[in-house]
Amino acid sequence: MKFARNVALALAVVSSSCVGAFSTSRINNAMNKASSNAATMLRETNGGLDTDLILPSFSTKDEYISYLKKAGALPDGFALGTAKGTFVSVEAPAMGPLPIKATVIHLTEGPTDSWAAVFTSNRFPGCPIKVGKDRLAKGHPLQALVINNKVSNVCPGGDGIAAAESVCAAVAEGLNLPGGANTVLPSSTGVIGWRLPAKELAEDVVPKAIEAIQADSAFAAAEAIMTTDRYPKLRSKTLSNGVRVVGVAKGAGMIEPNMATMLGYIMTDATIEKSKLQTMLSAACNRSFNSISIDGDESTSDTVVAIASGLKPLSSEDELQAALFEVCEGLSADLVRNGEGTGHVMRVKISNFPGSEYDARRMGRHLVNSPLVKCAISGNDPNTGRIAGAIGSFMGKFFPEESVDEMSLTLGGRTIFNNGKFVLEGQEVEEELSNHMADAQLGEHDDFPQHQKFVEIGIDFGGEGSDVTVLGSDLTNEYVAVNADYRS
Ligand SMILES: *[C@@H]1O[C@H](CO)[C@@H](O)[C@H](O)[C@H]1NC(C)=O
Repeated sequence: MKFARNVALALAVVSSSCVGAFSTSRINNAMNKASSNAATMLRETNGGLDTDLILPSFSTKDEYISYLKKAGALPDGFALGTAKGTFVSVEAPAMGPLPIKATVIHLTEGPTDSWAAVFTSNRFPGCPIKVGKDRLAKGHPLQALVINNKVSNVCPGGDGIAAAESVCAAVAEGLNLPGGANTVLPSSTGVIGWRLPAKELAEDVVPKAIEAIQADSAFAAAEAIMTTDRYPKLRSKTLSNGVRVVGVAKGAGMIEPNMATMLGYIMTDATIEKSKLQTMLSAACNRSFNSISIDGDESTSDTVVAIASGLKPLSSEDELQAALFEVCEGLSADLVRNGEGTGHVMRVKISNFPGSEYDARRMGRHLVNSPLVKCAISGNDPNTGRIAGAIGSFMGKFFPEESVDEMSLTLGGRTIFNNGKFVLEGQEVEEELSNHMADAQLGEHDDFPQHQKFVEIGIDFGGEGSDVTVLGSDLTNEYVAVNADYRS
């Protein structure tokens, strides 16, 4: 999470993993309100339908999808199309024709200067990342985005940059963009090391995606950018004067060694200066995508882009920042939840950490990445000693001078550690804690999110310091099975 700032724009780092300032009672209220007609429960706002802060419970995949479709109404000035095609991998021809999808996002009213991006800090970035960083550094306006799944174009044989540029050129030609390929931002996600099937994309899949362009919903993009994701992810928010912010994301952690990326695209019709948008996006990424961890691995292609068509005036910058926080926090929670094999999402709220927010996040990530903690959570085992142990280990290594005497710990809202001692009183408490975890459990194979509950962990250092929230997932048999079997 280092920031490399150049003149006007900042390139930040998206590390694997977020979030939220929602209180437990608000979640419970949202849950209780959730009913069988979830799809009709969208927040109604000025002319738009938005996703709820905590999505309602869904009982079928169809319900979830129709909810997202309605909530995905595009901001003014955006249209998008998706299409499928096939290719044969140069590296693995024996696999025969493989499916690939392309998504094209078009700014219908002309190019915009107002776009911002946050890219991976991985030292082996994909070729599209190199192209994107270059466009950002040179201050090129953008009029389209093109995203493909299946092949990530990271360290391929051949010229991966030329391949990415040729796909951008096909988009520019298909959409008649006056600024040419330089106004198209490419992203790729999928297998690392393979060549991008640029010819198939440029001649077949991209033209079909352009034919399919529509200005109704961002949902098609949420679906087409998926790889190992279990379900599409979309969040939206309408500001008081009708400005819309709609985001889609993909990612499921470094689940299969060769298929790991998180991508996020946030579209808005707000009028906002480029450098301000970059600062807002970076702040939102810090609180969301940089505050989650599924397995501690950061991919070579992580990218979050915010792009503004500028068709509507912005009445308040604070409102836009709040919407970016909400959309990014929602998406990053969805990423953790939809990780392959995820059975629980942990939400660790750290208060008064005796150090920077950056370090508080590091501590949260250390905790949610502890295999012992992850396994205990997976088994609904309230092994509170492991939680305290992981915190103590981090503090001993990195903050040996800071006092932890005042630290208190809660699990599911109940104090479990205080004044240097555990406060666990017998079987009843044990059961209460275990029930809290069981209640937050998700089906490891679900293809839609049944609920949005968390295993709530609170850590308060007392005194004054940084407050952050970090999300992580448990470690299930299913996760191990998926990763152990991937190459066999
Ligand atoms: C994001 O976090 C980094 C690392 O902690 C920090 O340097 C940067 O200032 C933050 N950016 C914003 C806009 O808050």
